[in-house]
Amino acid sequence: MKKHIESIGDSRSLELYEKVPKGKRLRAKLILKIANQSEEAIELASIVELIHAASLLHDDVIDEADTRRGVTSINHEFGNMTAIMLGDILYSKGFTKLTYLPSEVARSVADAVTKLSVGELLDVELASSFNTNQDIYFDMIYKKTASLIEAAAFSAAYLAKKDTDKYALYGKNLGLAFQVIDDVLDITSSSEILGKPALNDFREGKTTLPYLYMYEKLNNDDKTKLLSLFAKDLSFEESSWIKEKFEETGSVERSIEYAKALGYEALKAIEKENAPELEKIIKEMIVRDF
Ligand code: FPP
Ligand code: MG
Repeated sequence: MKKHIESIGDSRSLELYEKVPKGKRLRAKLILKIANQSEEAIELASIVELIHAASLLHDDVIDEADTRRGVTSINHEFGNMTAIMLGDILYSKGFTKLTYLPSEVARSVADAVTKLSVGELLDVELASSFNTNQDIYFDMIYKKTASLIEAAAFSAAYLAKKDTDKYALYGKNLGLAFQVIDDVLDITSSSEILGKPALNDFREGKTTLPYLYMYEKLNNDDKTKLLSLFAKDLSFEESSWIKEKFEETGSVERSIEYAKALGYEALKAIEKENAPELEKIIKEMIVRDF
């Protein structure tokens, strides 16, 4: 990734790039596990991570996030304009490099970036009211998160001449499970571990799966109370009430079970492929605290 940015020949871009926190590199790991470490696979892994990093730079501007992965976000430290332009530099560089890969791979990744953007738009617009529709939630997380992981798995399988349909399905379900777990961690993990305030999603107006499950189970008075707290800064008592209702309704556990079921679907897609490393990715992704 650094080599790609260095090749631009602009010291400011490189300086800013060095300040972007590295993250888990899930997409790169997945590509290298599926396609092994061929030169093309390494190229694809770095391109997908550049695009992913770009999308998070833009996402932090959209979400007005102060931190990313536990450190000050680029938008918070250098302002929105710098964060947006650095995102544009990373993702246009990724797209340039993509043109050197087979057209099936380039098309798959480019198409996923359109889905990513449509998903982000949907996420933003859904935040204007309390969404109770689970299909809409799953459509949004498929586009926003799973589509790029699906394209990464498809493309890696294509480069390795493996069954692209099976790996794409693995990637899609892995991506959906990943986002559901991310949404659970917003509720269960401490703000120190997450690097962002806990229950942040609800404050931002995001009605994630645990909230959808909880809402289903609440009586009418509690439903009204939950709606009244939507997209607001919560007091200690209000946060405690929400956490109490999560316990009473078992919605967090139900969401984790659903993520596990998606994980099993992912594994089922590649069961005949003899890929123990990909099983490990699913397990690590579900049992994690950030
Ligand atoms: C994080 O979601 C956001 C994404 C996974 C996708 C963001 C996509 C875009 C901004 C459009 C694509 C743009 C480019 C430049 C490629 P989140 O806010 O739920 O997660 P978080 O808690 O990690 O911020
Ligand atoms: Mg965000």
